[in-house]
Amino acid sequence: DFAQNDFLKKLQGNILKGHGRDHTTHVFMHFRVGYEQDARDWIKTLAAENLTSFRQQLKERDLFKKHKTPGNVFCSFYLTPGGYKYLGFGDVEDRFEDAAFNAGMKNRLDINQDPDPQQWEEGLAGDIHAMLLIADDDALKMGKLAKELLVKLEFFAEINTVEYGSAIRNANGDGLEHFGYVDGISQPLFLKDEVDDYVADHGITDLGTAHFDPTADTDLVLIEDPYEAGNNSFGSFFVFRKLEQNVKEFKEAEKNLGLGDLGGAYIVGRFEDGSPVVLTDEEGMINSGGYNNFDYSSDPSGGKCPHFAHVRKTNPRHDFFNGDDHKSHIMARRGIPFGHRNVNTALDPIHAQMPTGGVGLLFMSYQRSIENQFEFIQNAWSNNASFPPIPKPDDTGVDIIIGHPHVTNPPPRNYNFPSDYGADTRTPLTVEQFVTMKGGEYFFAPSIPFLENL
Ligand code: HEM
Repeated sequence: DFAQNDFLKKLQGNILKGHGRDHTTHVFMHFRVGYEQDARDWIKTLAAENLTSFRQQLKERDLFKKHKTPGNVFCSFYLTPGGYKYLGFGDVEDRFEDAAFNAGMKNRLDINQDPDPQQWEEGLAGDIHAMLLIADDDALKMGKLAKELLVKLEFFAEINTVEYGSAIRNANGDGLEHFGYVDGISQPLFLKDEVDDYVADHGITDLGTAHFDPTADTDLVLIEDPYEAGNNSFGSFFVFRKLEQNVKEFKEAEKNLGLGDLGGAYIVGRFEDGSPVVLTDEEGMINSGGYNNFDYSSDPSGGKCPHFAHVRKTNPRHDFFNGDDHKSHIMARRGIPFGHRNVNTALDPIHAQMPTGGVGLLFMSYQRSIENQFEFIQNAWSNNASFPPIPKPDDTGVDIIIGHPHVTNPPPRNYNFPSDYGADTRTPLTVEQFVTMKGGEYFFAPSIPFLENL
């Protein structure tokens, strides 16, 4: 009956499930003074003609599964408090209770440990009112629609910047990030058929024992659209961050450990193919319980998966919680890589080239609370060198991938890596910062009726 519910028509796509398109265009805009009615009219037409509802997304997914018919170009639209005010909603800060959203990312530097906006890319450092996302597997189709929409948009809005994402896939079709690791494995699953597939694929007989529970409650991401109260209309808070990756530094750190593939697996917490390092030994995967059906209870000292590894920092899976329900911090991650490698090495761009910049991740996430989800993970876990607070051989340090992405010339940091599989002995290694934050913003993805009724 979930599929019959009319709230699906009113909800924008990409929130409860990723749109899955390989190419994305992100148009950041600032409305010009005096064109309020033009902006409202344009948004209304966009909502009626272009925005992809979640129902439409599901229909297209089913058509693709059955007949391989490609869907329409995917579109979604997001507003900041500045955008709401411009459109006539002066009470936006009272309607939304999220202090992070109300303040904007540039006013949360201390919380996220972000660089001064003067060091962000200029287009993202400006005052942003809205973002339009256009996505398709066919880059030409996407570009054609983007051009059509931009021509009209430029009449009443200044374009802060346009960002482009493009998926990198391995031979299995899994999406990679620029360090070469499969990304997007650990996700809350909101659709019953996705949960059924997950259970069947991994031979799981008892979801009750899974410390990562994929049967997530939609409350993790959906909140009622405050301007459409009682109308079965929902939206979601949306975080966008452009994170540049220094692939050369990362690959050198991996090599300097002298542990082969295990070196990188200690940094990420998963091997390149996504297998969790805590579930492997010299022979490979120990347990076929699935790439998400695990926790760290067998590894309190971090001898198998270091506490500073990115996936252990960002989701400690019931490790040490003084009563905190870690599941309430889970977000729906929807990032996509940006930047291109040299086309001459297209067959294996990840291993053939090691750019020091110009490539990275357009990090995106949906959540019901930016404070309790994105910011909590970044601040209380990733940037906190003393998390987790348990006795361990050495101080943990910040998340080795995204901890403190703020400093312009960051000092090297020291980590103590296990010296072999499951080892209590440690190898110290000094690494540079791999990821630099280049800018971003907090948005709300309003319900479609709100946009249609402007
Ligand atoms: C998981 C890479 C930024 C939160 C992962 C995974 C990779 C990865 C390879 C493993 C795949 C998976 O478990 O789904 C990166 C890179 C980043 C980045 C290269 C920056 C350039 C971020 C940021 C956050 C974040 C900014 C949040 C503040 C997470 C979470 C998981 C994850 C929550 C899943 C952990 C789990 O449930 O086990 N990331 N990530 N990541 N990342 Fe990131």
